[in-house]
Amino acid sequence: MAQNLIIYYSRKGENYVNGKIVDLKKGNTEICAEFIQKAVGGDLFEIETVDDYSKDYNKCTEEAKKELNENARPELKKYLDNIDLYENIFVCGPCWWGTYPVAVFTQLEKLDFSGKKVMALMTHEGSGLGSCERDLKKICKGASFGTGIAIHGADAAQSEKAVTEWAKKSI
Ligand SMILES: Cc1cc2nc3c(=O)[nH]c(=O)nc-3n(C[C@H](O)[C@H](O)[C@H](O)COP(=O)(O)O)c2cc1C
Repeated sequence: MAQNLIIYYSRKGENYVNGKIVDLKKGNTEICAEFIQKAVGGDLFEIETVDDYSKDYNKCTEEAKKELNENARPELKKYLDNIDLYENIFVCGPCWWGTYPVAVFTQLEKLDFSGKKVMALMTHEGSGLGSCERDLKKICKGASFGTGIAIHGADAAQSEKAVTEWAKKSI
């Protein structure tokens, strides 16, 4: 049976939800990543940076903007060395200034995607998938790509049906 890997980044704490700042106990993307695992099975891998971003939403957006402008690759607490065991790779993250947080790229750039199938899931507050699929295609050389899915972050907890259907069709 095909092995699935669900790589995700998700930030707890203050976030912008439907025009208001709320304190998220569990990140929106983490909720969706767990729905994928429940739907199709597989391993979850959480991307965590050594240096935390600010809990404060506005400060965090400034930190993220600076990193993106500098094309930074922040250090992670742990790394996947390879993805040899897996066939299908779901890459899940929030939309930060139109694409994944750069920490996602820190991890992806260390992996060999030849022969893998890659799918994007992005949670957002209006930007949809942004440029994340284009960005994945640049990094995941040798992979094939399924259709991505954009989930409105505020609706993450209610997205199980949509995520389940998409994940099952993707593999
Ligand atoms: C640093 C930062 C930048 C963001 N930039 C965007 C953006 O460009 N477009 C958008 O639609 N939402 C943006 N958002 C909102 C998040 O994408 C959205 O709240 C997402 O669901 C958060 O997921 P998480 O809880 O898994 O981290 C941003 C949020 C943060 C913290």
